[in-house]
Amino acid sequence: MEHIPHGSPDDPNPLRRLSLEQLRRRTSIKWRAYPEDVLPLWVAEMDVPLAGPVARAVTDAVALGDTGYPAGTGYAEALASFASERWGWDTLAVERTRLVSDVMTGVVEVLKLITSPGDAVVVNCPVYQPFYLFVEHMGRRIVEAPLDERARIDPGGLEDAFRRAVRGGHRAVYLLCSPHNPTGTVHTTGELAAVAALAARHGVRVVADEIHAPVVSRSARFVPYLSVAGAESGFSLMSASKAWNLAGLKAALVTAGPAAAGDLARMPPEVGHGPSHLGVIAHTAAYRDGGDWLDALLGGLDENRSLLAALLAEHLPGVRHLPGEGTYLAWLDFRALGLGDDPAAVLLERGRVALHPGPPCGTGGAGHARLNLATSPGILTEAVRRMAAAL
Ligand SMILES: Cc1ncc(COP(=O)(O)O)c(C=O)c1O
Repeated sequence: MEHIPHGSPDDPNPLRRLSLEQLRRRTSIKWRAYPEDVLPLWVAEMDVPLAGPVARAVTDAVALGDTGYPAGTGYAEALASFASERWGWDTLAVERTRLVSDVMTGVVEVLKLITSPGDAVVVNCPVYQPFYLFVEHMGRRIVEAPLDERARIDPGGLEDAFRRAVRGGHRAVYLLCSPHNPTGTVHTTGELAAVAALAARHGVRVVADEIHAPVVSRSARFVPYLSVAGAESGFSLMSASKAWNLAGLKAALVTAGPAAAGDLARMPPEVGHGPSHLGVIAHTAAYRDGGDWLDALLGGLDENRSLLAALLAEHLPGVRHLPGEGTYLAWLDFRALGLGDDPAAVLLERGRVALHPGPPCGTGGAGHARLNLATSPGILTEAVRRMAAAL
């Protein structure tokens, strides 16, 4: 196994704590989807140990045998405090939240409340591939509203998509990804207020997937959609799963805006059967006590963003990269290098490095690939070296 430098188990930056050898012992999809010689920087899992407070909460629960069904509103209360402290959002009302098993299940359940089969869901492509998969699986139509050249929401394109979505009397949802996966775009208050106004004008409901909300660079500010004027009929989906790497401990929260409370009340009780009690315990501890760990992670991600820019400039100057300020994902444009529609396939075969392919992210995805920055600087450096050697 190749030696890649890493920090010590007590390095303050959680991204430097684990060796490649330790990571390869993991059994999650990031580490098992490809053969051992491939360096995986594709799916949104992070190469970090659990935050101390989260690990303690889970091991305490296991020691106690506290492994039954979840109860109460502790998760929502922890998120509300976190939202108030971090983002100044003081109106997350616990009584307008519902526990769901994960964010995509939450999206599906909200779509069932406010659309019918054949109705439209507008997305800003290129976007997180499962938006297409889940929406189409439940018989709704995707209507694309491409991001602009700077990877920002294009109000003209969005309005055009809203018109197409509601044509023929259909109900429509705008599934907003905030911050945006894969570009890392952090939407501003002005952009979100414009979205809310546009949606109201066309009778489109907004569902904001805000799973990456805590993962925003210190140079930017995350704005919760429901905190924006005019967003009262919207929904938000949040979870600690991305920021604290808890996808295997299932839990997430749907929050309805004040004018969407009646819709949320129609969500059937059986939906609450999905989230795991251990997941709820872990996520609650993350929001309540995981702030210092998160800050250390954000510092490490900022370092990795700068490192990636420097590595690309040195080894792969033909790759265009518009660094985003949110998420731990980087969206790379390989079109100038002539690698065809799916550069990730070429890099996997020739370079033994796995990125997420661009084409399944919809229009604008061809010629691109998504790289996961949430790894050690050593692995990131080796990945770019392999990519350059492959070309
Ligand atoms: C934008 C976005 N939404 C949803 C998810 C999946 O979340 P969950 O596992 O809670 O369904 C991801 C995972 O990477 C994501 O990036």
